[in-house]
Amino acid sequence: MIGMKIIKAMMVKRKKTGDKINQILIFGQDDLFERSILMRQLAFTPPMGWNTWNTFYDKISDELVRSTADAMVEQGLLDAGYEYLILDDCWSSVDRDESGHLVPDPEKFPYGIKDLADYVHSKGLKFGIYSCCGTRTCARYPGSFEHEFDDAKQFAEWGVDYLKYDNCHRPRSQTTPMLYRRMSMALRNSGRDIVLAACQWGIDDVHQWIRSSGAQTFRSTVDIQDSWDSIKSTVLSQMDKQNCNAPGCFNDMDMLVVGMYGKGLNPETSQGGCTDEEYQTHFSLWAMMNSPLIIGCDIRSMSPKAKEILTNKEVIAINQDPEGRSCYKLSVCGDDDSFVLVRPLADGDYAVGLFNFSEREWKISVDFWDLGLPAAAGLGFKIRDCYAHEDLGVFTEYFAAPLPPHGSGVYRCKVISTDHVV
Ligand code: GAL
Repeated sequence: MIGMKIIKAMMVKRKKTGDKINQILIFGQDDLFERSILMRQLAFTPPMGWNTWNTFYDKISDELVRSTADAMVEQGLLDAGYEYLILDDCWSSVDRDESGHLVPDPEKFPYGIKDLADYVHSKGLKFGIYSCCGTRTCARYPGSFEHEFDDAKQFAEWGVDYLKYDNCHRPRSQTTPMLYRRMSMALRNSGRDIVLAACQWGIDDVHQWIRSSGAQTFRSTVDIQDSWDSIKSTVLSQMDKQNCNAPGCFNDMDMLVVGMYGKGLNPETSQGGCTDEEYQTHFSLWAMMNSPLIIGCDIRSMSPKAKEILTNKEVIAINQDPEGRSCYKLSVCGDDDSFVLVRPLADGDYAVGLFNFSEREWKISVDFWDLGLPAAAGLGFKIRDCYAHEDLGVFTEYFAAPLPPHGSGVYRCKVISTDHVV
């Protein structure tokens, strides 16, 4: 609690005084505790935003970014917490200029990146960009290898707040930990707060070393596709790695495909689409598992259901819980394709997610003693359904819900005395 008070007080100061460098001077170089909190604020909770890649691929432009910035505000996404608007690969010219600087593609971005970032900021949003630790990006535009410090300075001058940093075309002689440490150092010394979103696909035991590199998020999986199989395999691949996930550095299971419905200009991502039920389960899993929530559909023409899922404040509150605890998994008796995720929350509540990965309807039940709550303790759970936005009452011993194939339920549970329950 005392910690939270300090953080809140510092957030107020941060707003009043501007950038981090000023604040470090205000608080004094010697105060390592305060300084570490300032750094952690960059990803105190999982970053939330929107990214161009899943739907727009290389078909990106100044107009797309500006109209999406408008939509993020008008559709209530900024209010729901989505603050970063991120330009992915294919934004630059094919070569650097004579002085070695990155140059935005003049046809796609005729007014340059600074002007665009200013517009995004004027909407109350933050601006993200993409580069790569290799000599070229995955789509073969210039990468930042051996240009790290110059590029970081350039990004800071443009007003960049978030850098997605990919892993293609890396010289064989270089190790990934060293290259991510290098860009982290460059950003930390750029004069601006810039989130380092390491996009390293989960290789080279990234879970083991990424936190110490200084990155704020790390991509732990291959690219997501807009299909149920992809969502399922992404989640299962990260289930045993939840303890490497905490405030300051979060496990990024890739961008959301909610609301894409198999559409979009990216042939790699658009793989048939999902049902609304599957999109809801996808969102529940990303929320329970602390993943950054980076939207990938065209929000300017979102379906009402996609909007409802993406702006569900009760589910987002679990993802953004200030304590940032990881979840644990409980298996479901008699069904290998169903499971329960449980997460302690900062206010003493527990988030419980029920998941049915099977092909048939299944009533999933969670026994409270498996969460550490024996009925003999005289305690039970007061349960709230975060999708129905409804209090379901007080339950003792167990809770069960019927779920359709690929369905999920997310509940906020408060431990209460059952003495008065009839
Ligand atoms: C991949 C990355 C994708 C996207 C793409 C751009 O490596 O995982 O999310 O950024 O590169 O070329």
